[in-house]
Amino acid sequence: MPKHYITFRDLSADEYFHVFSRAKKLKAERLRGLYLRPHLGGRSVGLIFSKPSTRTRVSFNCAVSELGGTPLAMNVSETQFTRGEPISHSARVFSRYLSALVIRTYHESELRGLAEYATIPIVNALTNEQHPCQVLTDVFTFVEALDGKPLERQRVCWIGDGHNMANTWIEAAAVFGFALTLACPEGYDPDPVILRNAQNDNPGIKLTRSPAEAAAGAGAVNTDVFASMDQTGETEKRLVDFKGFQVDSGIMAKAAPGAIFMHCLPAHPGEEVTDEVLESPASVIFDQAENRLHAQKALLEYLIPPL
Ligand code: CP
Ligand code: NVA
Repeated sequence: MPKHYITFRDLSADEYFHVFSRAKKLKAERLRGLYLRPHLGGRSVGLIFSKPSTRTRVSFNCAVSELGGTPLAMNVSETQFTRGEPISHSARVFSRYLSALVIRTYHESELRGLAEYATIPIVNALTNEQHPCQVLTDVFTFVEALDGKPLERQRVCWIGDGHNMANTWIEAAAVFGFALTLACPEGYDPDPVILRNAQNDNPGIKLTRSPAEAAAGAGAVNTDVFASMDQTGETEKRLVDFKGFQVDSGIMAKAAPGAIFMHCLPAHPGEEVTDEVLESPASVIFDQAENRLHAQKALLEYLIPPL
């Protein structure tokens, strides 16, 4: 059975710490100019995008090349995927060529359908429900910033939409045991099933309507756009409904001393976060972007068995 990576909970804390230590090593080696780690040995990894992407697309392309493989990026509309070919067929066809399939799409059920028939790992590159590759990277970036301080004693804050990124941070809090307070406007709460399951494992996961309350004493302040790629028709309404949920210097001042600001990007400066915070010394947004590459190299190495 291949090991899939569809939700954040698909790996345990021990598995994550293994991936983090590999990512740290691969990052240090790359800084010294050692790019190529021939783990894939000429094998190919498929990359399917049904939504736009800059970071995920480029970091996975580079990750596969630097692991000695061939990245095969496909626009879903150029495949038979959208022309009614059964998913059970596509999964088995891809499995005959590729060593893993990384896919960005709308619903997790599409990934589950592929995983049921695939004999290669299926990797979630973002759905409406989750963005595990991003949060894997974000927790790695937070661990780097903590510089040896224990992750499980930290408090993370989420301000904004209870969508894919928030859902995945909730699962991360369940896996690692750190405290997480989310401030979401009414009507924009995270997935109730994900939240309830995670709270059963970690009662330190809390939901509030107050960004200031969520930020108080947090070691990392996180946000995301008000309208995600699957919600573009709601942009104007959301600008009104998310009033008061902007991360600004006042919010950052409530966080713990030395707290970092995180954003998966792309950001809309002046909406969910001020330009001042994005450009402040607390902001680790470009480290997060860079770390996508190192973390995903380590993830692919872990999911795809060596030859
Ligand atoms: N953070 C992230 O996934 O960015 P892209 O949409 O550019 O891939
Ligand atoms: N929540 C955002 C994340 C983009 C990386 C979206 O789904 O559009």
